[in-house]
Amino acid sequence: MNVKRIPIIIDTDPGIDDAVAIGVAVYHEALDVKLLTTVAGNVSVDKTTNNALKLVEFFGPDTPVAKGAGQPLCIPYEDASEIHGESGMDGYEFPAPKKNIHPEHAVNAIRETILTSEEKVTLVPIGPLTNIALFLALYPECKSRIERIVLMGGSASAGNHSPTAEYNILADPEAAKMVFASGLDITMVGLDVTNRATLTPDNVVEIRDLNETGKMLYSMFQHYRGGSLKTGLKMHDLCAIAYIVKPELFKTQKCFVDVETAGAYTAGTTIVDLMNRYQREPNATVCLDIDVEAFRAWAIECLAKAR
Ligand code: BDR
Ligand code: CA
Repeated sequence: MNVKRIPIIIDTDPGIDDAVAIGVAVYHEALDVKLLTTVAGNVSVDKTTNNALKLVEFFGPDTPVAKGAGQPLCIPYEDASEIHGESGMDGYEFPAPKKNIHPEHAVNAIRETILTSEEKVTLVPIGPLTNIALFLALYPECKSRIERIVLMGGSASAGNHSPTAEYNILADPEAAKMVFASGLDITMVGLDVTNRATLTPDNVVEIRDLNETGKMLYSMFQHYRGGSLKTGLKMHDLCAIAYIVKPELFKTQKCFVDVETAGAYTAGTTIVDLMNRYQREPNATVCLDIDVEAFRAWAIECLAKAR
């Protein structure tokens, strides 16, 4: 049987957990990764673009890579190289990429991809939301061609880059606010699930022994500081891909979400109104729980299909 694949665009800042998410997505039989767009996040946009090209060449598909925003909309750029290393993907020596960057800016490449896709496209942002906010502001007429947005970011509880804010949202709060206010169908895959979606030390060894991709990821895992090799490595971005192809792993709740853009301590915090205190229409589906064991088994099963 010929199953229709879901067309997606991954907006990314690779990033070691981004690399895992991209690897799983490009080899997944239910997904058609039409485009990778890059953004300044874990490291500079020059580095995230170079990393995305390296990954596409390593994994082998023809997915175009378009370079996006190098700065957040309103605030100074802050990287997360303490988590992913100076290059953003420390720990593995990729050959210098031979592929060219897409000639258009990410925002225009998203537009072109969406308008030429037969099916509506799902956007999967797994970095700061700068490109997505710019795209929606510049081309609001394209909204009708977007199936939905499944993003990794935010938290209904504590943060990971400030006491209350998650990195992807804190890195560009104004952009995140615009995306949550867009009226599109949005799923927030935040720290409430991604902090728990870890690979155990045993999983990591199993992945190493799967194939070339496993060896490459294993090398980078030695340098990844999202969690630890002893207590488990947090696969934040992979959770967004999991939600698209295996939503039964998650427990969700629809509610109103907004982003704090100012505040002495709270900028970048997602306000997730689980108790409906503000009596506002829900604008997002928020992931609140995950079947961790099933997630781990699924991740390994997916990576086993890679080269
Ligand atoms: C998010 O921040 C980045 O460091 C990860 O790649 C992930 O997208 C987790 O807060
Ligand atoms: Ca990321």
